[in-house]
Amino acid sequence: MVAKVFHGAVVHSISLGKLEILENGTLVVDAAGVIVAFENSAKQELSIPQDAEVHHLEPGEFLIPGFVDTHNHAPQWPMRGLGQGLHILEWLDRITFPIEARFADATYARRTYENTVSDFLRQGITTASYYGSRHAEATRILAEICLEKGQRAFVGKCNMDRNAPEYICEQSADVSLRETQDCVAHIRRLPGCAEPKHALVKPVLTPRFAICCSPELLRGLGKLMKKDKNLAMQTHFNEAQQEIDATRESILAHCTIMTDYDKERVKALQSGVAHCPIANMTVGGGFMVAPIRDFLRRGIKVGLGTDSGGGWASQMLAVIRQVSRSPNTKQIISQGEDKGLSLEEVFYLATLGGAQVMCLDDQIGNFQVGKQFDASWISTTTGLQSAMTPREPADSIRTIFEKFIMSGDDRNIAHVYVRGRRVAGSRQ
Ligand code: GUN
Ligand code: FE
Repeated sequence: MVAKVFHGAVVHSISLGKLEILENGTLVVDAAGVIVAFENSAKQELSIPQDAEVHHLEPGEFLIPGFVDTHNHAPQWPMRGLGQGLHILEWLDRITFPIEARFADATYARRTYENTVSDFLRQGITTASYYGSRHAEATRILAEICLEKGQRAFVGKCNMDRNAPEYICEQSADVSLRETQDCVAHIRRLPGCAEPKHALVKPVLTPRFAICCSPELLRGLGKLMKKDKNLAMQTHFNEAQQEIDATRESILAHCTIMTDYDKERVKALQSGVAHCPIANMTVGGGFMVAPIRDFLRRGIKVGLGTDSGGGWASQMLAVIRQVSRSPNTKQIISQGEDKGLSLEEVFYLATLGGAQVMCLDDQIGNFQVGKQFDASWISTTTGLQSAMTPREPADSIRTIFEKFIMSGDDRNIAHVYVRGRRVAGSRQ
């Protein structure tokens, strides 16, 4: 790969609520995909590597950081939109488990995951935290496909050794733990994935949720985490009333309800919240008015998730549009105490906030020098036939950006880059 230089408009988050817009930015990415210079070109002359590919963005085009999807079930990609009227436990039984069971077939898994990863990349999702199905082989295939297609990802074999139909339940905690360790080791053996901090694809422990995991399994996973400081963990937590009611009856009752104590524990443990506003409005139900403003006020890390099958869309743009609704509802319920989220804040959650949740904010999330270039090149030129509100000559970059975020689609995403490499995009 050669170095790249981009001249044109750039939009990214500096902090929650603070968007930086450079109308005439120059961004230099070295051959390894690292941002080595980012300036307002009007202000400063930059030394540009001799052999660099030079790209000029046209009026109405701009760069944004890649979206970070902090919660995504890869095997649910073929079932998005199904059973949206069901509540979580019926939805798992009737729709989700039969579809996830198909991933016992490695050929099916490869074909489906290739489409899945390509689709998420096309939507500008440069980083995803994936739940696989409970099948080790299919999950290894998912990790390989992410690497082949160049998506930055956490990939986890789902653990579920109880309270699931026999055809999908794991035989025992022991089998689940052994397969998990094999899967972790396999992912770390993939080319370039041995180095735990900078690997493009990393393993993540993925107990589905308390209802489906025996105490023995959870203890075993906890031990793996303690032994290996580089392992992350993801799970469903306090998503829906039905889940909470069922879990209360189990021995894990004390860790499932978001009391003030729980929120403080989440913060103290430096865990993060993957907020999935589309799924929460449909199959989850209970998290609909998630206290996002309260999480942010307390300094809890918050990112966004598509949840894939839990909702009806794979697009982070759809998630962003939906996310504003629950804080707005909360604003009304709290009689104005919890303010709704601004466009700046929601965009931050979709990029830098998600990077924080995944502990990757030293590497991605915005265009700070030294970070890696994970980005989308947005085009709003007329003739694209996208759903976007038309651009008018008087529009500022801020207005064009807002129109894209609130009404654009993947046709506006001309190029998608991960670590400086073009991995997807609508433009040929
Ligand atoms: N809780 C347990 N499993 C799942 C799942 O697959 N999706 C969602 N949204 N919630 C869950
Ligand atoms: Fe989920």
